[in-house]
This record gives sequence, C-alpha cells and structure tokens, in this order.
Amino acid sequence: MRIDRCYCFQQTFFCLQKVAEATGAETVEEVQQHVTFGQKCKLCHPYVRRMLRTGETVFGEIVREADEPTPVSP
Ligand code: FES
Repeated sequence: MRIDRCYCFQQTFFCLQKVAEATGAETVEEVQQHVTFGQKCKLCHPYVRRMLRTGETVFGEIVREADEPTPVSP
C-alpha cells in the first residue's frame, strides 16, 4: 500500500509539503488557504497532519484521526 495524496483532489502530499514550506503553513487549514484539497471525505487530514509534523510525504500504513489527532493549542 502506498498512500501519497489527497485522492479526492489529486494533490500529492509532496506538493502540499512544498506549499507548507513555502508559506509557513503549520496546520491543515493553513495549507488549505493556499491549495484546494481535503474538502470531501477528509481521510487525508491525519496524513497531512503527520506530514506537517514529520515531513513524511509517502505512507505505507493507514493513518486514522486517532493516530494523528489535531494538535491542541497551548
Ligand atoms: S482524500 Fe482528501 S478529501 Fe478525500
């Protein structure tokens, strides 16, 4: 299994990571201000959160909401 994109909008995590790096976006919502993805099934959201946390852009395992919860603001 190779999961490397938001399938609903065909946006690769590699591309989203580049957008995050270029804009300083640190959350799913901040990345969404620059590129359209993650507005249908939202199954990509935990992957994008992990991408933002670790820099990974290709995943070989299922990442669910509970695996990568939304960070709580201090
Ligand atoms: S996979 Fe990203 S919204 Fe469905």
